[in-house]
Amino acid sequence: MKSSERVRDLGEVFTPNATVQDMLDLLPETMWVSHPSPTFLEPACGDGNFLVAILDRKLDRISEDLANGMLAAGDGVDAAQFHALEALASIYAVDISTDNIVGGTPGHEIGARSRLLTMFTEWNYEVLGRRLNDRSLVLRSANWIVEHNLIVGNMLPFDTAWKSTGRDLIPLIEYSWEPRDLSVSLSKTTLGDVIASEDAKTATMLSLFSPVGPEQLWRGKATNLSDADHVEAPKLRGPIRNGAGRH
Ligand SMILES: C[S@@+](CC[C@H](N)C(=O)[O-])C[C@H]1O[C@@H](n2cnc3c(N)ncnc32)[C@H](O)[C@@H]1O
Repeated sequence: MKSSERVRDLGEVFTPNATVQDMLDLLPETMWVSHPSPTFLEPACGDGNFLVAILDRKLDRISEDLANGMLAAGDGVDAAQFHALEALASIYAVDISTDNIVGGTPGHEIGARSRLLTMFTEWNYEVLGRRLNDRSLVLRSANWIVEHNLIVGNMLPFDTAWKSTGRDLIPLIEYSWEPRDLSVSLSKTTLGDVIASEDAKTATMLSLFSPVGPEQLWRGKATNLSDADHVEAPKLRGPIRNGAGRH
């Protein structure tokens, strides 16, 4: 809880890690498989308590599969990094507060994007012995992913004057990972399409995207993802920085 104003205005009360873990324990083990990595969408993610816990479990599974020679992409560091990027890209989130997603403001130095990237970087060092820096292709791909998947936006379709918030137009990237050649292809959909296709489903398990894939935008090596720069990151609409009067 960062301030009483933020609790009042944003309902900002973050879930403690022990509760996050208890909730994730309720999910079936199949949610943590390394490939294909099941998708998650956190619609009001705060600064990412659920997101980091989800990534942590997914990376743990990749470490295990690597040790047991069970990764779909094969053995070795490149295969493990491929699946780690896949795991990162399986996590989508929205929050209305720029402070929570991007951070970098007093009292909100670390946002959800940075928390995921830090975990990703530490795992590369601790498990794979790879120290990533700004020039690392894999880190540039990871950066690209969090900028496109973790979005500042309003999850409510209408504001208090019943004006559309533009939520349904928020662009989302769908990834399709190919372990045989460590490549990925990208398609673009919208949050509105995802919500509509979820509403139409009766399945008990959410699968974020519809089986009929939208138009493909880019295909290439997973570590070259940052070359897909013609795929626009979602525009920040009416970002809220609600730190004034914090105490
Ligand atoms: C109760 S907190 C939960 C944060 C996180 N899910 C957790 O459990 O730690 C609610 C979050 O919703 C965000 N929020 C409030 N209204 C929103 C809206 N209309 N669209 C998206 N996010 C919103 C707030 O900024 C806040 O981070």
